[in-house]
Amino acid sequence: MSAHQLEAPSRTLMGPGPLCIHPRVYRALTSPVIGHLDPAYLKVLDRIGELLKMVFRTANRLTNATPGSGSSGMEACVANLIEPGDPVLVCVSGYFGDRIRQMVERQEARVSLIEGEWGKPIDPELVRRSLKNTRCKVIALVHAETSTGVLQPMEEIARLAKEHGAMILLDTVTSLGGVDVKIDEWGVDAAYSCSQKCIGSPSGLSPVTFSDRALEGVSRRKHPVRSWYLDISLLDKYWGPSRVYHHTSSSTLNYALLEALQIIEEEGLDTRIKRHTRNHKALVAGVEAMGLEMLVAPAHRLPSLNTVKVPQGIDDAKVRSYLLDAFNLEIGAGLGVLKGKVWRVGLMGYSSSAENIIFFLSAMGQALAQQGYKADISAGLSAAMSALKQ
Ligand SMILES: Cc1ncc(COP(=O)(O)O)c(C=O)c1O
Repeated sequence: MSAHQLEAPSRTLMGPGPLCIHPRVYRALTSPVIGHLDPAYLKVLDRIGELLKMVFRTANRLTNATPGSGSSGMEACVANLIEPGDPVLVCVSGYFGDRIRQMVERQEARVSLIEGEWGKPIDPELVRRSLKNTRCKVIALVHAETSTGVLQPMEEIARLAKEHGAMILLDTVTSLGGVDVKIDEWGVDAAYSCSQKCIGSPSGLSPVTFSDRALEGVSRRKHPVRSWYLDISLLDKYWGPSRVYHHTSSSTLNYALLEALQIIEEEGLDTRIKRHTRNHKALVAGVEAMGLEMLVAPAHRLPSLNTVKVPQGIDDAKVRSYLLDAFNLEIGAGLGVLKGKVWRVGLMGYSSSAENIIFFLSAMGQALAQQGYKADISAGLSAAMSALKQ
């Protein structure tokens, strides 16, 4: 195979992630490689921590990015907060809630499970009942469930956690940087995200934040954290003033993350969140005007990830291959119980744009036509255009 055949094709990424990245982030990726203890680089890590505090809306001192994809942040939060025997309430209504459950079980916690329907948020009433009946140290849940396209309302669960003195462990992988995340207001004790979605960088880093209460708990643990690499006290010694070598941090990825966060700061977090919401509404208007249906009820839709139902008789995989081959356009397949039933269309970060929405609607119309499904493309485009003007 020639080297040319292995070159990465240039795709428009509109799946669950990674998403397209801004040209400035590409340029940052070509920054010279420097050492992980270089004084110039340590300033970059400090700035990343500051900017992440802004995006997480937190004053938590311990806020930075662990090495690895979103699952590394998940593992860091779970492994540090939870000890063998701890009572933990895990809320699952999708693929990633279930991944949290698996990680929590590996810590040998005593797990209480709330299983919600895929495509709907967790009902806070179930949380209230569980907390009333069972002692709970940590409530673990997903804010933005990428497998279903549901945004979990947080206020009521946050209130219940406070009332019962339980900590909240929150997955913000598909919300941070595009959907409002209010770590301090909700009283979240540990949260994680990823670099490759709404933040707008390549994968490889996982933003995390830990409250002082969470860190006090870590310092009082009876058992050492079961992950050396993601032990937050060790990472803190590298990120914090003592600057003790912990791992060979990737300067390249961190320069890219820094640039992506600076772009967020320049755009303004509130403006960026509004952009994600407006573009989501335009996409939905277009999809529905074309005759397609959304999976999730309007009140619970996640602006960054849209689940569109695969119409009866349409071969989901053929549509996705056609989009990739004919248009270099990537969208996501359904996961778990939604496999073959939905497409997952990501509108995150640099990919959340008017031109991508128009491109997607036209290309999807063509893909459906290959299978004899007549979507009303022009109605879709004009509905999306008028929603974009609002
Ligand atoms: C909600 C959610 N949590 C966790 C993850 C895991 O992240 P990663 O694949 O970056 O490890 C994902 C990945 O898409 C996700 O969507």
